[in-house]
Amino acid sequence: MSKMLPIVAYGHPNLRKISTDIDKDYPELDQMIADMFETMYTSVGVGLAAPQVNKSIRLFIMDTSPYAEDHPEARNFKKVFINPEIIEETGDEWMFNEGCLSIPHIREDIHRKEIVRIQYYDQDFNFHDEEFSGVIGRVIQHEYDHLEGILFVDKVSTLRKTLLRRKLNDISKGNIDISYKMIFPVQKKKSAINH
Ligand code: NI
Repeated sequence: MSKMLPIVAYGHPNLRKISTDIDKDYPELDQMIADMFETMYTSVGVGLAAPQVNKSIRLFIMDTSPYAEDHPEARNFKKVFINPEIIEETGDEWMFNEGCLSIPHIREDIHRKEIVRIQYYDQDFNFHDEEFSGVIGRVIQHEYDHLEGILFVDKVSTLRKTLLRRKLNDISKGNIDISYKMIFPVQKKKSAINH
């Protein structure tokens, strides 16, 4: 049985840590991966990195199927990336509208390079060295950033960041409407709940 895990919200220090490699003996890894898929599907995301479920390990999962209508290559692209390392990013920068389960209700146009070469292990700890592009490459870049403590809102202009500041503060305080469970960095005081 897999279960939904709470998702760490923007502003939590654990989203800013650099994650560490794991090995085959990492305790209950299969269970954790199953829980992460359940969490991602329940919260309607296309990718989820371990730091977002409060584990500072180098692991992220993806299923880009929701993009399949506009991007045929995304169909049934379901993968687990363990100890990934981006070797190089090449091609022209292109714009894509990104969002993040840790930063609900905010979407921003982000520029990144088109092609990503990545080395990683799959769930059975087989090694891969592959190149991805399009929306698949894009989700890889976004999820990989989580392992480095980087969030997509770090990549917007100073002006956009200023405009987003209030919304981001609200997320950190838990002042948002979401359908899934989150861990907020700033605990609401009981007396403030009916404020
Ligand atoms: Ni994200």
